[in-house]
Amino acid sequence: MTIHIGAQKEDIAETVLLPGDPYRAKWAAETFLTDVKLVNQVRGMLGFTGLWNGNRVTIHGSGMGMPSLSIYVNELIRDYGARTLIRIGSCGGMQNSVAVRDVILAMTASTLSTPSRGIFRDLNYAPCADWSLLSAAAKAAEKRGVKTHVGGIYSSDIFYDERPDLNDQMVRHGILGVEMEAAELYILAARHKCRALAVLTVSDHLLTGEALPSADRERSFGDMVEIALNAASP
Ligand code: ADE
Repeated sequence: MTIHIGAQKEDIAETVLLPGDPYRAKWAAETFLTDVKLVNQVRGMLGFTGLWNGNRVTIHGSGMGMPSLSIYVNELIRDYGARTLIRIGSCGGMQNSVAVRDVILAMTASTLSTPSRGIFRDLNYAPCADWSLLSAAAKAAEKRGVKTHVGGIYSSDIFYDERPDLNDQMVRHGILGVEMEAAELYILAARHKCRALAVLTVSDHLLTGEALPSADRERSFGDMVEIALNAASP
């Protein structure tokens, strides 16, 4: 057990999917895994381990934002031996070529700051995805016929951001979407020699103001879970 995860060491699989929302973790585990066991519920942050195509997989909530994700990912890697970590979440679209419901595979995650900022000092470290996961996810998405974009995203600390000029620069520089967790995930994976990827559904759009109706969210989320499970399978 760790401070934030009540599981026994053997309860957590080497492959971990990380939705922000703990109830999405529950839904994904109950929908896609067999032999599902609840392995964590400390502070309501739910984690489940089960089998997918015979492979052990844990699906564990990360919470919202990089400080929350950093707590769970540090403990999952350092105390539980997680080696492959895939964020499954939503993002806001930032290019006209990107539509609500599309999937974005985050090749890189730009930031202003992360919980790891202090150790880099003046270095603008470039957090990037694991290539083997990225290419496997791109193939899985193509096979499912899901409209997918591969490129850079922006991991923000602020959902209600009142600096439109900053978003303009992101758009100008080809950033596909904005979310709040991937950069720190990529940095922690690099530090601990793990593999990481963020698979994101576009749930809203910063340029058009469109938002995914809640009825559509489950199906889009399901596509993402299946892409992540396929990418992680050995
Ligand atoms: N996640 C989903 N949509 C988002 C947005 N517009 N900004 C930050 N994170 C998001």
